[in-house]
Amino acid sequence: MCPPTYFDVVYEINPWMDLGVPVDASRALAQWEHLRATYEAHGHRVDVIDPVPGLPDMVYAANGGVVVGGRALAARFTYPERRPEGAAYERWLAAAGAGITSLGQATEQNEGEGDLLLAGDVMLAGTGFRTSRAAHAEVAALFGLEVVTLELVDPRYYHLDTALAVLDGGTSPATIAYLREAFSPASQAELAERYPDAVLATPEDAAVLGLNVVSDGRHVFLTDRATGLHDRLRERGFEPVGVDLSELLKGGGSVKCCTLELRPATVPSTTTTT
Ligand code: ARG
Repeated sequence: MCPPTYFDVVYEINPWMDLGVPVDASRALAQWEHLRATYEAHGHRVDVIDPVPGLPDMVYAANGGVVVGGRALAARFTYPERRPEGAAYERWLAAAGAGITSLGQATEQNEGEGDLLLAGDVMLAGTGFRTSRAAHAEVAALFGLEVVTLELVDPRYYHLDTALAVLDGGTSPATIAYLREAFSPASQAELAERYPDAVLATPEDAAVLGLNVVSDGRHVFLTDRATGLHDRLRERGFEPVGVDLSELLKGGGSVKCCTLELRPATVPSTTTTT
């Protein structure tokens, strides 16, 4: 995770960002600290990267890269405003230890776990707004994983992690939740075929970024505003853990955006987070 020390809305690169709506910096920090403490209270280790002045979106650590089985790939951002974050996350990943054994060189545009969600043994990969299809091929080659390209069509759900949540990667197929209408017809068909038992989110759930979750397979950390989704998760045997990230929502992010999951080379039973 990256503390929101320099978090602010000073440019608009997604429909959630509005230069006219001020950010309460101390509230953002308190909300972020609460998320970190919540992870720790549930037994998850949290590593922290130093925030860089002038990079207000660096708080959205999920976008910094992706780590699977100790192999890491740092992001190459779409917008010039965020591009320097790629180098900062790359340096962190290179120095991290934390079970990271290799760092691939990204040549294609990818925004890390914003668009690359590991679901069991496949990588679900978003495209349409940020991460390119060429990056999907790069990810498949680097990680040796099947990559499923999913096309996003609604600018409010510009990253895959705003429209789809992996709840449990340990089932076969993985247990996921998603907002159907955020995807192209072809991708809707692909999701329906692969995940017939998925939790279908409502527009209300998605509109508060309720799908932007971190799950350890039992606890699902998500915004406290997505009350309908909390109910559906409980029905499916999950334990929703609600947090208030209203200030971070002003940048277009929630729980998952603030969290890059480290999957070290030796596969542990719990997820560690950065
Ligand atoms: N303001 C950031 C952007 O538009 C928000 C990123 C949110 N992160 C995420 N994983 N969806 O790039």
